[in-house]
Amino acid sequence: MATLLDEIEPLKQAALAALRSAADLPALEQTKGAFLGPDGQFTALMKRLGTLAREERPAAGKAINAAKAELEATLDTCRGDLELRAAAPKFPTDFTAPGRRRPLGRLHPLTQVTDDIVHAFRRLGFAVADGPEIEDETHCFDALNTPKDHPARDAQDTFYLADAGPGTSLLRTHTSSVQIRVMEKMPPPIRIIVPGRVYRRDNADATHNPTFHQVEGLYVDRGVTVGDLKGTVEFVFRELMGSDTRIRFRPHYFSYTEPSFEIDFSNALVKKLGKDWLEIAGCGMVHPQVFENVGYDPEVWTGWAFGFGIERIAMIRYGINDIRLFYENDARFLRQF
Ligand code: DAH
Repeated sequence: MATLLDEIEPLKQAALAALRSAADLPALEQTKGAFLGPDGQFTALMKRLGTLAREERPAAGKAINAAKAELEATLDTCRGDLELRAAAPKFPTDFTAPGRRRPLGRLHPLTQVTDDIVHAFRRLGFAVADGPEIEDETHCFDALNTPKDHPARDAQDTFYLADAGPGTSLLRTHTSSVQIRVMEKMPPPIRIIVPGRVYRRDNADATHNPTFHQVEGLYVDRGVTVGDLKGTVEFVFRELMGSDTRIRFRPHYFSYTEPSFEIDFSNALVKKLGKDWLEIAGCGMVHPQVFENVGYDPEVWTGWAFGFGIERIAMIRYGINDIRLFYENDARFLRQF
């Protein structure tokens, strides 16, 4: 007569075969239920253990437990295999297909010029400083000794964000505001450059745009001279525009410098444009009143400052004749630099 012990092996084999042939995860779970679930065939076998004679139970119990362990191990293996198969791509990988290249981007010409300027000044020990594009009149004008009747303060020239009297917010018209912000925060000596975006109420044409970029420079220490300024500017422009570059200072007026100059430069590129000199920047020795405004003693401290437009330099360097090309995001234009 067939005993319980004899039934274990064939049932185990049947369960193993069923588990291994399950085509997917739901089928596997169903097969598991059919054998090991509360109403499963294997569970039924275990329930009958109690009906055996006492001396038969140990051997049968041991055999059932061993079989159950084997079923569970197989279940785990099959489940792992099926999960892997479910996650795998539906179609096999074609290793002979041509690779998909990621097109290499490049830096915008304005970024390249800015990076070069920063790099040249870093070599001279200048640090990069930053300030807000939304400014107040104090930092943009008053502290820079720029009087109330200056044309830059006209609503026709500057973007005001609200007309709420003193302290009114505006979009900064130049990076010179950052001179004030830095000097308010730190004692001298100061050696900074400030690349950044500025705003003017200009209509866009080939040489104007309502937003453009400047680099400001500020150097404050004891005994600073115009000679330091000229030497620094000359070094940087030679780095930027080539070693044949020459620099010329022309007297000018800015309210925050005294004396003030406009910087002209000349090189082969300028000659190509049919000119001897091109105006490129404004600069001067920091006005004593500006030092007073930030709490520096003008009897002790001297300094120079400059500001120039990055677009203008990029246009000369790359022979670009329309400033608007910089902002159109036309890849055909940008790929050339
Ligand atoms: N802020 C001036 C402008 O936007 C440029 C400038 C001139 C900056 C003279 C300076 C300076 O720091 O000393 O046109």
